[in-house]
Amino acid sequence: MSQIDELTHLQQQALQELAAVSDAAGLEAWRLIYLSRKGLVLQAVKRVSSLPPAERAAYGKAANVLKQTVQAAFAAQAEVLHEASLKAELTAEGVDVTLPGRRPQVGRMHPINRTLRHIYTIFGRMGFQIYRARDVETDEYNFQLLNFPKGHPAREMQDTFHTTVEDVLLRTHTSPGQIRAMREYYPQPIRVILPGKCYRYEQVTARSEMMFYQVEGLAVGRHITFADLKGTLHAFADQLFGEGRKLRFRCSHFPFTEPSAEVDIDCIICGGKGCRVCKYSGWLEILGCGMVHPNVLRNGGYDPEIYSGYAFGMGPERIAMLRHGIDDIRYFYANDVRFLSQFA
Ligand code: PHE
Repeated sequence: MSQIDELTHLQQQALQELAAVSDAAGLEAWRLIYLSRKGLVLQAVKRVSSLPPAERAAYGKAANVLKQTVQAAFAAQAEVLHEASLKAELTAEGVDVTLPGRRPQVGRMHPINRTLRHIYTIFGRMGFQIYRARDVETDEYNFQLLNFPKGHPAREMQDTFHTTVEDVLLRTHTSPGQIRAMREYYPQPIRVILPGKCYRYEQVTARSEMMFYQVEGLAVGRHITFADLKGTLHAFADQLFGEGRKLRFRCSHFPFTEPSAEVDIDCIICGGKGCRVCKYSGWLEILGCGMVHPNVLRNGGYDPEIYSGYAFGMGPERIAMLRHGIDDIRYFYANDVRFLSQFA
């Protein structure tokens, strides 16, 4: 084989192998063999100096053509491989824009807040405003002005969280707000609800928490009677639990109302026939109420000879439990999303 033929052969071989290269590593291995400083192509070029002078010109020219051809082929193949790897990367990491999106997790309103808002709406329609009283109260407002003098046995039903400050405590009920509202509104007529948290130093059970809500209601005016109380509560129960509720007023006692009553509705689960929820009585207790005691009116600044009023207090947790068939109050404040997310 002549020297020139050998160049042709080398070119064919280089290009053939180059065509078979399929990745960057293969390309580099190929380059080391053919195009590095000690590679076959440069060696072939350098061989020109060992040839007889007469052959040098033709060989040199052919060798240069070989070098350029092979280098150009290398550059072209490098480009092809680069494109291919880019494309592969794009398909691998690509986003399929036709896939349905992931829904963002949406929070829900806490069942107690839902119940509270429902209660606000119903009383709002009947002309009651919301009055915010304080969580930290004095013994005077929480008890004394409500007819619980020091040492009164009814205080024991409301075991109290005291603070380190003498006679300052966490309110055990929302009723002290009655005095605050009366002292602020006197001598105007009053129709307010007083929602908020209450605190009792009690054993936590399925039926009682240390912290819970109450919604207090208070109406004071010149001609308010027990019939107004009944009518208001009846309208409320119909709107909250459904039309046609039956209410039952049972005699009870609270130091700050006279007369006092506890109110039951016919069981919303069994309609009064008797079931587990109503403990087979057909009735569910939903609130305490009564006519504002004359002493309490007086403590609020209203003369009981001229004014009268009614008050009631209910537990939204209990109402939410009845409405949703929840049998343990502790679920509400355990912050378990499995529970909370059920209330859409
Ligand atoms: N404050 C009472 C309680 O916590 C409820 C109540 C409020 C009763 C208003 C009558 C009138 O048990």
